[in-house]
Amino acid sequence: MYYRTLATLSLAGAVLGQQIGTNTAEKHPSMPMEVCTAAASCKTENTQVVLDANWRWTHITSGYTNCYSGTWNETACPDGKTCAANCAIDGADYAKTYGITTPSSGALKLQFVTKNDNGQNVGSRVYLTASDDKYRLFNLLNKEFTFDVDVSKLPCGLNGAVYFSEMDEDGGKSRFAGNKAGAKYGTGYCDSQCPTDIKFINGEANIEGKYGTCCAEMDIWEANLDATAYTPHPCSVSTQTRCEGVDCGNDADRYAGMCDKDGCDFNSFRMGNQKFYGTGAEMAVDTSKPFTIVTQFITDDGTDTGILTKINRFYVQNGKKIPNSVTAIEGVDEFDHISDDFCKQQKEAFGDNNYFAKLGGMATMGKQLEKMVLVLSIWDDTAVSMNWLDSHFPTDADASKPGVLRGRCDPEAGLPKNVEAAHPDSYVIYSKIKLGAINSTFPQ
Ligand SMILES: *[C@@H]1O[C@H](CO)[C@@H](O)[C@H](O)[C@H]1NC(C)=O
Ligand SMILES: *[C@@H]1O[C@H](CO)[C@@H](O)[C@H](O)[C@H]1NC(C)=O
Repeated sequence: MYYRTLATLSLAGAVLGQQIGTNTAEKHPSMPMEVCTAAASCKTENTQVVLDANWRWTHITSGYTNCYSGTWNETACPDGKTCAANCAIDGADYAKTYGITTPSSGALKLQFVTKNDNGQNVGSRVYLTASDDKYRLFNLLNKEFTFDVDVSKLPCGLNGAVYFSEMDEDGGKSRFAGNKAGAKYGTGYCDSQCPTDIKFINGEANIEGKYGTCCAEMDIWEANLDATAYTPHPCSVSTQTRCEGVDCGNDADRYAGMCDKDGCDFNSFRMGNQKFYGTGAEMAVDTSKPFTIVTQFITDDGTDTGILTKINRFYVQNGKKIPNSVTAIEGVDEFDHISDDFCKQQKEAFGDNNYFAKLGGMATMGKQLEKMVLVLSIWDDTAVSMNWLDSHFPTDADASKPGVLRGRCDPEAGLPKNVEAAHPDSYVIYSKIKLGAINSTFPQ
């Protein structure tokens, strides 16, 4: 993503702490995945999902008093360390409070707005777990990652995202003494935007919001029914890292931080094919119906320890393999994949800063793909209304300038107040997650 901001959470007074609350038992919804070694040779793994800590109710450990309700409780939270010691994050009622359900085995439905006893919840973010207190780590090199999506009820301005972040396997519990909750409660989030709206980072409350939490990110899928992009975002750090000041890469420091916030995006519409992805039979991928997304991580020597050179993309719909769109931009060769050469040519043609190359490009990203955590989310964008994905961005740029148009959505459609009012019942369904050897997870 270009910008990621936490979808607004309007649970009265909800926020996290890092002790464990016991008001609601934490029970992770099941979402089994498959691991394939060859076509039709797949094994099921009993993976589950866990809700991110930021969405959870946080309260004084022995009681019901909120630790945060728009502002931090100064008695419980005079400083970050004391706050983490005094406050607990509680278990989640996934369906009732957050609209997170499993409609069938291997499928996960994320509801956009969910009315609940505390008001409403907007958006959610979950991680795939291998066991009760460990995230499932993925090594993506020389592998392909495949899943099905239904975006038919995901309009302009929303983002149903499937991506990998280089989080700690245990959510940071063993590295940070202040974090008692760990992966079981969805702690330890980080991404390439180095978000500063995370309430607890490195086992301490982020009371002044001056810290961010950075790590490499591979966006497999950021999409709604009108637009989609896939984007590697390397960082100069190879583990979840707390940032402060310039290192966070905020505002004027955007191209001086630990992470490549822009990334190197492949958005078919932006890259010149406006008939590839969207609603209707005239589109190569018709988003009114479910389809499969395949992403391949190709190494220079065809081994799991090689250097990442290409990220390929295929789609499958109605049993038919659909190759990715091919770039049609003046001054850019014909690419159907992401590579260092694609990134260089695209950024030159669009006049964008190639911070991706500065941080080592595909080779750096490849190293960081060896131990990734899978993230599944639905969100709206309080910063720039998702215009970077599906509309006109930068908002004040001339639409005829190459690279400015990213999709056919109205720039106003993604204003959170508009999309929350017009389409609260939106949702996305992810299913049939597979990891496998190249060409093993989809029909050839
Ligand atoms: C803040 O927490 C203290 C306990 O640490 C509690 O007595 C007080 O009522 C809380 N204040 C608010 C505004 O909730
Ligand atoms: C995967 O399939 C493609 C054809 O779609 C082929 O060109 C490629 O060599 C195959 N790769 C492997 C590792 O089997």
